[in-house]
Amino acid sequence: MVNPPMTNKPDQQATIHPEAASSGISKGLTNYGDRGFSLFLRKAFIKGAGYTDKALDRPVIGITNTGSSYNPCHGNMPQLIEAVQRGILMAGGLPMDFPTISLHESFSQPTSMYLRNLMSMDTEEMLRAQPMDAVVLIGGCDKTVPAQLMGAASVGLPAVQLVTGSMLTGSHRSERVGACTDCRRYWGKFRAEEIDAEEISDVNNQLVASVGTCSVAGTASTMACIAEALGIGLPGSATPPAVTADRIRIAERSGEVAVHMARAGLSIDKILTPAAFENAMRVLLAMGGSTNAIVHMAAIAGRLGYELDLKALDVMSRNTPVLLDLKPSGDHYMEDFHAAGGMHTLLRELKPLLHLDALTVTGRTLGEELEAAGPGFKQHVVKTLDAPLYPQGGIAVLHGNLAPAGAIIKQSAANPELMEHEGRAVVFENAEDLAARIDSPELDVRAEDVLVLKNIGPKAAAMPEAGYLPIPKKLAAQGVKDMVRVSDGRMSGTAFGTIVLHVTPEAAIGGPLAWVQTGDRIRLSVRERCIEWLVSDEELAMRQNAKPVQVPVAERGYAHLFKKTVLQADRGADFDFLTATQRKGSIPRS
Ligand code: FES
Repeated sequence: MVNPPMTNKPDQQATIHPEAASSGISKGLTNYGDRGFSLFLRKAFIKGAGYTDKALDRPVIGITNTGSSYNPCHGNMPQLIEAVQRGILMAGGLPMDFPTISLHESFSQPTSMYLRNLMSMDTEEMLRAQPMDAVVLIGGCDKTVPAQLMGAASVGLPAVQLVTGSMLTGSHRSERVGACTDCRRYWGKFRAEEIDAEEISDVNNQLVASVGTCSVAGTASTMACIAEALGIGLPGSATPPAVTADRIRIAERSGEVAVHMARAGLSIDKILTPAAFENAMRVLLAMGGSTNAIVHMAAIAGRLGYELDLKALDVMSRNTPVLLDLKPSGDHYMEDFHAAGGMHTLLRELKPLLHLDALTVTGRTLGEELEAAGPGFKQHVVKTLDAPLYPQGGIAVLHGNLAPAGAIIKQSAANPELMEHEGRAVVFENAEDLAARIDSPELDVRAEDVLVLKNIGPKAAAMPEAGYLPIPKKLAAQGVKDMVRVSDGRMSGTAFGTIVLHVTPEAAIGGPLAWVQTGDRIRLSVRERCIEWLVSDEELAMRQNAKPVQVPVAERGYAHLFKKTVLQADRGADFDFLTATQRKGSIPRS
């Protein structure tokens, strides 16, 4: 076999006429006031890494490297990048991986949500600044996929989302366990003194059995399924666990597809259409997915000029039953979902509710991909529309005088006995107040009370996952497992309970929640989709006059930008200046 001759001859055509080649390595030249020189210099530098002109003539495919020692959810990053590179080379492209911010839930202080928009800006600007014709976005842990899709949507390049995949489950004294529904369940047992320090330490070793993302319907799994439903992730890409050969093959194929997308000019706006978002919302509801996905979808849609219509989403929820038997709404883990055929099985069952003509990154429609996936097989993880796990969608949208712009509840993971409930409010002013008093033996609290936590909204605290207020220790010790809880924050998708979240507007900007006091009465009716604060207008006006809110500000740096520009939960908690300037309507289309 004769190897092709190596050449160091410059690409004269591109060097002299860079404007004639606005793709590949010639794209987006650094501004030196002489475009020919800019390209000449760029090529000189990249050749320092050993590239030939022949390699540099190929379509350039960027790969976001979000590997980090702080992020075990992305612990398979080197293997994924290698496979993506292989796929790109097989299809005739030139792979160029580059780093961006990486965020892990447990290693992001004060909360990963504070940094999601920063990661989206990093992703957006690096996609713009560096020459590439398409990009493979590799993310996984909760905020990373939303951040990448937000950034890529703003840029408009052809893009493929590749998720890192879920972790394996572990075993504690022969019981199967996985992060993080079981983390919360076991911690609750420890708080209630049902298990001792030795056992909780043993469990700690088993909850995360490998690298990869949380193994239940947390935000990472939800966003993985949403990415596939949006058509921005490859068919079959959501469920292969992180450490499997299936995951590596998806990575290779993602690289290949990105090259085809670059050649076809299949930009992200052709994939992320209103129909695609509606398909994704169906999947969110049918999988009992994370409530956080609503905030993230609102932010991604906002980058493309769409606003999320929470009322229309609730209408959709009423006729989209939960089909996926996955924790915390069900019993299984992501690896079981994969063994049951993954998203093909779920989408096949949801077919009557989907827009099958929505385009995917493969260039084929969702309907064509489902057809190609075949008829499916007998399994017990995805239920049928006739015999669902839960009769409505996993999430219900609430309105009322406590949440004029909406709030949500994960009804499929709530206690049916508490979903119609009126109780006395026990109020915590902020997360510090909660931490200081929740376990105090002096706390005046009963099981039928409604726990209220203020000032964990976007502006006050970047919406930490603190909406899952712990059951006060003295009630937990009495066996109380659930109470109605209300806040302007979020909770982990892996959590469960009768928990009202995302109360909008938040307390910190003068939402009604700001003036709720211990002793007030609050009524929750999921059936009526309402969250009411039983207070007179006169009393409210008096409290507002007596204690006006002070909208939080920060003096400098990213915190200054964040406090000044972050939007409310219904707008995805994005920064106001990052949303699209052209408005295209609302989704879901009612
Ligand atoms: Fe990364 Fe759960 S902590 S996905």
